[in-house]
Amino acid sequence: MTGKLWGGRFEGATDSAANHFHSSISFDRRLFREDIEGSRAHAEMLGRQGIIPMSDADAIAAGLDAVLDDVESGRAVFDESAEDIHMNVEKLLTERIGDAGKRLHTGRSRNDQVALDLRMYVKRRIDEIIGLLAELMAVLNRLAGEHAASLMPGYTHLQPAQPVTLGHHLLAYFEMFRRDAGRFADCRERADVCPLGSGALAGTAYPIDREFVRERLGFAELSRNSLDGVSDRDFVLEFLSAASITMAHLSRFCEEIVLWSSGEFAFVELSDAYSTGSSIMPQKKNPDMAELIRGKTGRVYGGLIAMLTVVKGLPLAYNKDLQEDKESVFDAADTLAACLPVFAGMIGTMTALTGRMAERAGAGFMNATDAADWLVGRGCPFRDAHGIIGRLVLYCAGKGSALEDLTLEEFRAASPLFDESIYAAISPERVVAARDIPGGTAPERVRAAAAENERYLENLRQSAAPEAKRV
Ligand code: ARG
Repeated sequence: MTGKLWGGRFEGATDSAANHFHSSISFDRRLFREDIEGSRAHAEMLGRQGIIPMSDADAIAAGLDAVLDDVESGRAVFDESAEDIHMNVEKLLTERIGDAGKRLHTGRSRNDQVALDLRMYVKRRIDEIIGLLAELMAVLNRLAGEHAASLMPGYTHLQPAQPVTLGHHLLAYFEMFRRDAGRFADCRERADVCPLGSGALAGTAYPIDREFVRERLGFAELSRNSLDGVSDRDFVLEFLSAASITMAHLSRFCEEIVLWSSGEFAFVELSDAYSTGSSIMPQKKNPDMAELIRGKTGRVYGGLIAMLTVVKGLPLAYNKDLQEDKESVFDAADTLAACLPVFAGMIGTMTALTGRMAERAGAGFMNATDAADWLVGRGCPFRDAHGIIGRLVLYCAGKGSALEDLTLEEFRAASPLFDESIYAAISPERVVAARDIPGGTAPERVRAAAAENERYLENLRQSAAPEAKRV
């Protein structure tokens, strides 16, 4: 009557605004590959189980291949009134092969179908994102090796704290991205569950072979409860969480790049290839890529909050609210896939202004802790040493000099324990080299960490994503 695939019990047509409003084909068309692959496996299973004639199953398989071809080449025309990718594919198939196409949806619902498609899609994008994270980590690790001994100021509260090495600083981000890759691999495990067979909500009365479909589509497990099978979107929440945390890490790093490339810091110079100019101020070289990545973080968080909110009030099982899941997933995956390579390129091509960094690493009393530690080495209790050095810092600050500029007499006026060896002990090189413990900033430790990271990356590249989780 109404021209809808579900039109049997309807007498009236859908309002045209309502039709446009609830149709999802404008965005879920991106699931066409997954949808067609899932349908192919389902139809093959139906044929093998004798639920539909084998000849129809064969016709469906050939027809779906042709539809895939049509969609890929842009020949297929999607129809908004067919709502979504699932019914559009079925419609295109039936137009092409006739009655056999009408048997495809036997023993299946769009509810288990859409859950299947999105799980396949999320798995695929996770593999892509882990690959991009690996490429970024490789860039960081290379730079860390090159700058294992390059001095730079370390900060707390953005106040000069203790000198570190640039390599050590870069490897802090390596750790974040390594955890991110682990989080995505972890999420992939829970996405790797085949929901087909859940039907609309209660399962199906047809003697389907779920195991065959699972195997065919490369899923690790079958969903264990049909109500959950159609309504679980935890994998979407986890994906968006992992994406949000990764964006948080990129954004923090971008903030540092913006600071470092400023004239005030002048710690790095970005390559022309990753900078932009001003339409009015001829002198400008702006870190737009870093700012834009920082800016794009918000939309990925937005997707996570949107989906947490969508699921919080849903009674079991499927509700149309869940149609909102796809755009958040697409946007988060696209945003990461756009940000990660640009970020890696920007970092990989920037020039570290190591002279300037080392100069700042020697300023700001960043050796004060080590001066106190030197006194501790001579038997002075740490709290007393802290007080003595604090008073010396105050004294130096008053005359605009540094601790290492003090004469031995001035040192000894503060504590008779001081001798000539204090000067060597508080040079920035020594201060950094002294942190020679696992996880410390000593150049040797940074080199060792980079070597370990290399092994991790090798492993990550070789293993499929799920196994990458715990390496
Ligand atoms: N387009 C729908 C979605 O994305 C597919 C499932 C629709 N099922 C239904 N009974 N309306 O969620």
